Amino acid sequence: MSEKRVTFASKIGIVAAAAGSAVGLGNIWRFPSQTADGGGAIFILVYIGCILFFGIPLMVSEFVVGRASRANTAGAFHKLAPGTQWKWVGRLGVLTGFVIMGFYMVVCGWTLDYFFQSLSGNLHGVTDFSGNFNTLLGNPLRQIGWMILFTLLTAFFILSGVKKGIEQSAKILMPVLFLLLMILAIRSVLLEGSAQGLNFLFKPSMEHVKPTLFLDAMGQAFFSLSIGMGCMITYGSYFNNDINFTKTAIQVSLLDSLVAILAGIIIFPSAFALTANPGTIANELVAGGPGLLFITLPELFNQMPLSMVWATLFFCLLSVAALTSTISLMEVVTVYLHEEYPLSRRKSTLLVSIGVIILGVISSLSAPFFNILDVASAKFMLPLGGFFISLFVGWYLDKQLVYAQLTNEGTLKQSVWFLKIYIILLRYVAPIAILAIFIYGLTG
Ligand code: PHE
Repeated sequence: MSEKRVTFASKIGIVAAAAGSAVGLGNIWRFPSQTADGGGAIFILVYIGCILFFGIPLMVSEFVVGRASRANTAGAFHKLAPGTQWKWVGRLGVLTGFVIMGFYMVVCGWTLDYFFQSLSGNLHGVTDFSGNFNTLLGNPLRQIGWMILFTLLTAFFILSGVKKGIEQSAKILMPVLFLLLMILAIRSVLLEGSAQGLNFLFKPSMEHVKPTLFLDAMGQAFFSLSIGMGCMITYGSYFNNDINFTKTAIQVSLLDSLVAILAGIIIFPSAFALTANPGTIANELVAGGPGLLFITLPELFNQMPLSMVWATLFFCLLSVAALTSTISLMEVVTVYLHEEYPLSRRKSTLLVSIGVIILGVISSLSAPFFNILDVASAKFMLPLGGFFISLFVGWYLDKQLVYAQLTNEGTLKQSVWFLKIYIILLRYVAPIAILAIFIYGLTG
């Protein structure tokens, strides 16, 4: 605990690292399939509400807890609330990170698989894209191989150090991914028959509303922003003292939501335009399914000249986006083991990797297990963590300490009103809303 902790060197690196954690498969793979499942535009509206009312305030809170303690997720609660049970919130976060990796790495593996399918040209000859994806799902060994490779890749970056690993990769490649998404979105919208897809995405209809709408959207917001498990606590613990938390949280959330919406604009118009029988596509979409990204996108690439170049570039950048997220997940669990137990960084990384691989193998073999990990983490563990973090910062922490963190010891001019609203959101709005959504989702 006493060794000097690294801090991020440049401000742009900080936003990039936090954004790198947030932007990942959650935006490009999970968001579209959740949106399809949740009935389109209405889901997106609720999702945006969740980002505004508790996503951003909670991200700021995690930064506060992280920088005020300069410790790992569990250690942070230990330090700020010694002798209390708050440390369990940190431990829950560590467990959540572990559970997320247990299925997330499998999807990372699919992404790598598709990257190599594009690179080798194999994807080019495919005509039945859903058959192609199902072949992968039906081949556990292939999935397990890629999943293990991705886990080891993540472990390699964890061991190569915070600065070099996270900051550098995120800074260069995120903007390239963003540009590529813009190009793909334009291409998708220009397809004949894309209008229906845009309607599905942007015109709210009550037709497909489910009782779990709020719970689903809230889970997606937590998952996508990487909040509720202390990921942003761990990153906050590396932040320099002059970082403006509010500005950073708003920037990261904006970027994260933009990438998700862009992914929607890529996938839905192409799904509607390229389907063989448009009559059933809305129902098919509502049935959702984790394959949306891996089925619809290759179809879109097929419509473009130099299809394999686009496909290769896309799956390569998606793997990088996923990697900056898995790095942040693994960092949380590894630093916890390293700082709370007498384990070296190397040993902690090894231990975490083995655990993740075991969960990943089971997830590859069993779709229900995969789903349980997904639902348990996104819809229960993250919101529960968020609930407690909002109570911790809103009620337990000394208000002067919170204000000092938010204003960087008074050097940032934040209006008194802003601080008051922030505390109200944390004390009442976020916890009550999270609780209400829980109860409604479970009983609805
Ligand atoms: N936010 C990441 C994504 O959208 C996933 C993630 C969740 C990462 C929680 C860290 C913590 O892909």
